[in-house]
Parts: sequence; structure tokens; C-alpha cells
Amino acid sequence: MKTLSIINLKGGVAKTISAVTMAYILAEEKGYRVLLVDNDKQGNASKMLDRHSYTHKGIESIMIERLPVMAAVIQHTDYGTLDIITANMELIKANLEVQLDQQRPTQNRIKKALERVNGNYDFCIIDNAPDINISTVNALVASDYVMIPVTIDDFALDGLSELAEQVDNTREDLNPSLQMLGCFVTQFATGNEADKQGEEMLRGMGYPIFETHIRRTDKVKPATFQRVPVPLYSDRCAASVDYRKLTDEFLERSGINGKEE
Ligand SMILES: Nc1ncnc2c1ncn2[C@@H]1O[C@H](COP(=O)(O)OP(=O)(O)O)[C@@H](O)[C@H]1O
Ligand SMILES: [Mg+2]
Repeated sequence: MKTLSIINLKGGVAKTISAVTMAYILAEEKGYRVLLVDNDKQGNASKMLDRHSYTHKGIESIMIERLPVMAAVIQHTDYGTLDIITANMELIKANLEVQLDQQRPTQNRIKKALERVNGNYDFCIIDNAPDINISTVNALVASDYVMIPVTIDDFALDGLSELAEQVDNTREDLNPSLQMLGCFVTQFATGNEADKQGEEMLRGMGYPIFETHIRRTDKVKPATFQRVPVPLYSDRCAASVDYRKLTDEFLERSGINGKEE
């Protein structure tokens, strides 16, 4: 199993849409076995796959329990080979508890839990909160790859250097195999000169950046309202087409060819 964290310190840059859509494409369209981890207390990824709840265990159990029963934490979705670990506001309490724990290491809890289902999935995709906290550090420790969605605006680069530093520190101290695959532009307005210039500027700044950008379309919002992945809501909309390209570029950049254990 290879694990990808989608992360940015900013909200509203399409972390959740990207994590859910890539997970859906890898599972439903490419036939991989995929585990989506919702690692944001807002639970938006859980909501998009219609699994948000306060009765089922989720990521908070992985943060606090010594040996969480993975079968009790993982849920099937409505899509064949796509499973999910959900999140809700319980994660706030769980993280406070983790921070006060002086007995056990606090940074490798997601990693240890995922190791126990390693053979069951080809990919794990982690949707993160716009933060650096114990949850996101756990995600980076558990990940092989990082991808950063960015939107073109005045503040597109805010927090990027802090995040890059966090990724570097995690690689150095805790997870030598962590690879920064790069940023990718989301919600790109075709025909908008400012977006075009902003993207060119970004490409010239030396950050690793994906060739593929994700175009803005008016199909994304209704898909979220209906709680279905974007490609299922609109197979041919620009965002669906672009996310397929992005997923292929992810597979290329990560050097993954064909299925693997
Ligand atoms: N390609 C797109 N086209 C149009 N709207 C988009 C697109 N991607 C994301 N959005 C919208 O942007 C908002 C933020 O997306 P979301 O994935 O929740 O961001 P984050 O998880 O980074 O906070 C949502 O309202 C979503 O509908
Ligand atoms: Mg989100």
C-alpha cells in the first residue's frame, strides 16, 4: 500500500475534493483497492461519501486507542473497492488527549494503524485539515507522498514554506521515505488572464508543480450537495477530465506502474 497525503495550511483550496475524487478514480475507474482517510474534524470527505456519523468509530479511535480494531474503524462506501475511515468533531477531544499522553509515542499512531491493513489496499489517501497539528504530523509520518493543492490568488503561497519545512523535518526526523511530489493548481479559471499569469508565476518559483491543473466548473458544488464524487455526478465536466489526468500524473510521478501489494 502506498499512502498519499493531500495537505495545505489553507482552507478552501480543494483538499477534500481532490482527495475524494482521486480516491474515487483510483478505485472505481482504475480498479485499485483504496482506503480514504478523513483526517479533518470537519468531516467533509466523510460527508461527500455519505458516511459522516457520530455512532461509528473513525480516525479519533486510531489516535487514542492502543490497538484499534481496524474492521470496526474502516467502513465500506457505496463504491466497490473504496473504503473510508471517517472523521468528526470527536477528533478535537482525541487530539487533546493525545497531546497529554506521556506514556506512548504520539506521532506514529496513524502509521501503526495503517500498517495493520497494509496488504488490504493498493492506495491510502489522507485528506488533511488546514493545520499543522498532531493529526497532520501523524499523516505525514504515515505517508509516502505529499501533494499540495493551491488556488491562484494573492495569497496562493501563504504557508507553503512552513508546510515545506514541516515535510522536510518529518522526513529528517521520523519518515525518511516521505516524498514531496508537488503542488497542483485547482479551481483554475480558463480564460482568466490573472489565473494564467498566476500559474506561470507559480511555475517559475522553483516549487515542484504538476503539469495538470484542475479547471473550475459549476458541477463541483452540486456534486457536494448531492454527496457524490464529481466524476459520478458529471463524467465529462472539466474537473472530472482534469482529475483523471492528475491521477495519471500522480501514478507517473510516484513511479507506480501496475498494481502492487
Ligand atoms: N474544480 C472546482 N471547480 C469549482 N469549485 C470547486 C472546485 N474544486 C473545489 N471547489 C469548491 O471549493 C470549495 C472548497 O473545496 P474543498 O475541497 O472543501 O477545500 P478544502 O478541503 O481545501 O477546504 C468547495 O465549495 C468546492 O465546491
Ligand atoms: Mg477539506
